[in-house]
Amino acid sequence: MKATAISLFSIAWVSTALALPSQDLTKRSSVKGFDISHYQPNVDFTSAYAAGLRFVMIKATESTDYISPSFSDQYTGATNAGFIRGGYHFARPGSSSGSAQADYFLKNGGGWSNDSITLPGMLDLEVSDCDGLSTSDMVAWIRSFVDTYHSATERYPILYFSPSWWTQCTGDSEVFSEECPLDVASWGSEVGSIPGGWSTQTIWQYADSNPYGGDSDEFNGDEASLKKLASG
Ligand SMILES: *[C@@H]1O[C@H](CO)[C@@H](O)[C@H](O)[C@H]1NC(C)=O
Repeated sequence: MKATAISLFSIAWVSTALALPSQDLTKRSSVKGFDISHYQPNVDFTSAYAAGLRFVMIKATESTDYISPSFSDQYTGATNAGFIRGGYHFARPGSSSGSAQADYFLKNGGGWSNDSITLPGMLDLEVSDCDGLSTSDMVAWIRSFVDTYHSATERYPILYFSPSWWTQCTGDSEVFSEECPLDVASWGSEVGSIPGGWSTQTIWQYADSNPYGGDSDEFNGDEASLKKLASG
């Protein structure tokens, strides 16, 4: 452990001397967070914050007929404990249009405010069998959600998916990588390869558990960059 720390320091020092300092140093900092849903109705946000977690994504809605019964309490609890937080929407593309689901999400907790503690809303893309949509219909559905969210908030939503879901359900479309921040689900010790044209992830969901509930996430940058993501 000690040896690793020393060698990383040396590499960082060499990189600084080689004139690509900010890029290399940014990659070395990260902020831990987690994501939760109605399956975790009693999260101890104060302890989670004390343990070093700084952001949390909270499930707000699903399709156009489900609001998480825990969302409001979790959002308030996270806010009071000092978290940077945001809502997410579980996509059901086979049930209704992307714009209808974005509107529902916006009305029920998924909106964005420029208050420096609210992350742009996140679209959770993990429904099995692509909910019956073809890859082109799925890309059009996501486009409709993304554009509706952006018109309402001036922010592009974060897209969450696993590499296999994106490849299967969008045919590895690259049309969102310039706009939407990526939260990639890739459980293990490395992010691995990222589909869809993103050069890097914004958030990495690296484990499907967390001591404080839900899943474990890591923001790819330091706390100042996380705050920047919150304020656009
Ligand atoms: C949010 O507010 C900050 C500070 O006032 C400003 O710099 C930024 O452009 C705003 N973001 C958006 C997307 O309006």
